[in-house]
Amino acid sequence: MVTHSPRKMLTAVDRWYRRHARVLPWRVGPEARDQGVRPDPYLVWLSEVMLQQTTIPHATPYFDAFRKRWPNVKKLAAASWEDVSAAWAGLGYYSRARNLHACAKAVAERGGFPQDAKGLRELSGVGPYTAAAIASIAFDERIAPVDGNIERVVSRLWAIGSDGTEKGWRAAKVVIAGHAQDLADALPANGRAGDLAQALMDLGSTVCTPRKPNCLICPLNAMCAARAEGNPERYPVKADKKATPTRHGSAFVLVRGDDVLLVRRPPSGLLGGMMMPPGSVWADAKLKDPLEGAPGKFAWERIGEVRHVFTHFALKLDVWRAQAPAHAKMSGEWLAREDALAALPTVGRKAVALAIGDDDKRR
Ligand code: ADE
Repeated sequence: MVTHSPRKMLTAVDRWYRRHARVLPWRVGPEARDQGVRPDPYLVWLSEVMLQQTTIPHATPYFDAFRKRWPNVKKLAAASWEDVSAAWAGLGYYSRARNLHACAKAVAERGGFPQDAKGLRELSGVGPYTAAAIASIAFDERIAPVDGNIERVVSRLWAIGSDGTEKGWRAAKVVIAGHAQDLADALPANGRAGDLAQALMDLGSTVCTPRKPNCLICPLNAMCAARAEGNPERYPVKADKKATPTRHGSAFVLVRGDDVLLVRRPPSGLLGGMMMPPGSVWADAKLKDPLEGAPGKFAWERIGEVRHVFTHFALKLDVWRAQAPAHAKMSGEWLAREDALAALPTVGRKAVALAIGDDDKRR
């Protein structure tokens, strides 16, 4: 029978983190912390917003580019939406970019970031997880952020599963969050809550992985209830995934010389505020008229189809292309092909790249 002592767990995790902490551009590692270096809340916030729903390898170049171009929150607050949305293009979940920009303005206005989770939660785009992550990492508040990695580590340590239903998984998540918080509460008053949070994140992504966890090298193996049961991969037992539906639509890539026509989407909703080629509505069934929503009367040629998976549905877009005469006046913006590709969210970039060819292999 495994006995759970949060204090013992903290000691083991701390020792492990000191040796194995990943070097990440937004992170102040344990040795630098020993020397008194403090994390910059702006960089912690920026990284956490980017890492919501995005992997570290995908987010890192964006983080580096934002940091270089807008090294502090005041600079980001003063940037235009056109620049911020173009720099975000390809990171997905575009409401995050809108919230990021609004949040930067609010923080610059109030003279800095709130220094606890409660205050941080008032900011645009900062939910309970992000507030806890920033408060613990930037300010060492003893509060536990529970991301997917930490959820898995904790669910295994205490062998917390569910019956596979939504309701059961929701209840299990509450128990898991409670245990994660027990760990944070067991830190001494001057303890480094940010190190604990990041140690558990690293442990989850490098050792306590979803499949084939490497228990032999885990600092918590002797304290893990799931391991004691003999089948740690079994945890966490989440609710069964629903099948994702498919939606259908058309994208119209109008070319004028070297330029491509793009339009800005309305500010709210999916891809809100981002540039896209003009398009049809996205419907549950194939469109009766595939040229519905095409801008102007041009000789549209069907080029092919692109597919993109959003959180709640997959989108199949028929891609059409036409040439516009040199003086064609259209509503929207004509952008040179490289600028167009750079400014587009991934789904739009796939469509335009298919229509005009893509020699830009950056993403
Ligand atoms: N995922 C989200 N935030 C992270 C961080 N600070 N370190 C490692 N992985 C993370």
